[in-house]
Amino acid sequence: MARNMKSSTCTAPVNIAVIKYWGKRDEELILPTNSSLSVTLGQDQLRAKTTVAIDPSFTEDRMWLNGKEQSMKSARLRNVLREIRNKVRKRKADDETLSWKVHICSENNFPTAAGLASSAAGYACLVFTLSKLFHVDGDISSIARQGSGSACRSVYGGFVKWVMGTQKDGADSIAVQVAPASHWPELRTLILVVSDQKKHTSSTEGMQTTVNTSQLFPRRLLGMEEKMEQMEKSINEKDFHSFAELTMKDSNQLHSVCLDTYPPISYMKDVSHQIVRMVHCLNSICERNIVAYTFDAGPNACLYLLEKDVPRVLSLVTTFFPPKDNNMEKFIQGLPVDVLPPSQGDLAAIPMEKQTDAIRYIIHTQVGADPQVLDNSETLLDSQGMPKYSIE
Ligand code: DP6
Repeated sequence: MARNMKSSTCTAPVNIAVIKYWGKRDEELILPTNSSLSVTLGQDQLRAKTTVAIDPSFTEDRMWLNGKEQSMKSARLRNVLREIRNKVRKRKADDETLSWKVHICSENNFPTAAGLASSAAGYACLVFTLSKLFHVDGDISSIARQGSGSACRSVYGGFVKWVMGTQKDGADSIAVQVAPASHWPELRTLILVVSDQKKHTSSTEGMQTTVNTSQLFPRRLLGMEEKMEQMEKSINEKDFHSFAELTMKDSNQLHSVCLDTYPPISYMKDVSHQIVRMVHCLNSICERNIVAYTFDAGPNACLYLLEKDVPRVLSLVTTFFPPKDNNMEKFIQGLPVDVLPPSQGDLAAIPMEKQTDAIRYIIHTQVGADPQVLDNSETLLDSQGMPKYSIE
């Protein structure tokens, strides 16, 4: 009987990098070879939710993800728990809760491992929830980093940089908020989900092979600090044209070093390249960038654009990549938007073939806030500390 059970339930956001992390200088501590910068997305559309409970009657640490029990053998999971417990120990060496086992239950409101940064939201949420449960103050990004590198940026809302740091122990490899979500409220994101299958080469494995084999990779690293400065400036000044150019160039460079990896890694599919072509055609008609694409370790495109341009861009996306059943309500999820037919001018200037069913669905969202603490009524665990909903 779990009589002394204490629990905490929180949510954490997804982030999509505009200057990407790719490569580690320390595999164990997850220390990167370059600094990176991302935009945190809205949690109404994309978030992880986690409940952590502790109780003296629990006999082992256990975890369930999307209703399925997970192995606790993962070194990353153990490292994160150890780091939190170390912080508690530093505060009070004989804290009785240190010997209590944890039950963790987590779920995402979007497909796991679809190249939608689910591990980032998941680890950020786990670490944030643990920090609330154990009353751990101060920086938690360096703990989230040890779960998954990109997770350290999901502990803040708005625009977030992960400073690579120089110390061997990683103490200065932390995330810092560059600007809150309220700084650029007009910024929107359209995630074009091409596939929600699990990716064939994980980011962890892919970046390690790149570091070991790509001859172009050292050249990429040389330009990173300058790119970071330019990106921060474009965000501070809300200069969408440069923000878009830097974003697209960094994504293109990442996928170039992936192709230069041996054996080569290619995350983008034909439809991803078609999306790139459509974006460049549209920007060229406008004589400035009104939309930017970026791709992570998968074929899904993440488009950044301003609110006023969402209807125009969506009219083109839905014309060139329509759903099979023409059901726009199901096709475009998230923030509401009216989809109008494209203008004759845009259609004439973009010489592309229609590809039905190439995009599965679209998530329309905006810049989002920090992780949130939820009320106890939102718990994912029952009074015995077992998942309320399980698929086993
Ligand atoms: C392409 O954070 O998933 O999304 O640290 O090994 O867990 P690990 O890798 P991960 O890599 C993310 C790579 C990326 C770029 C980015 O988010 O910056």
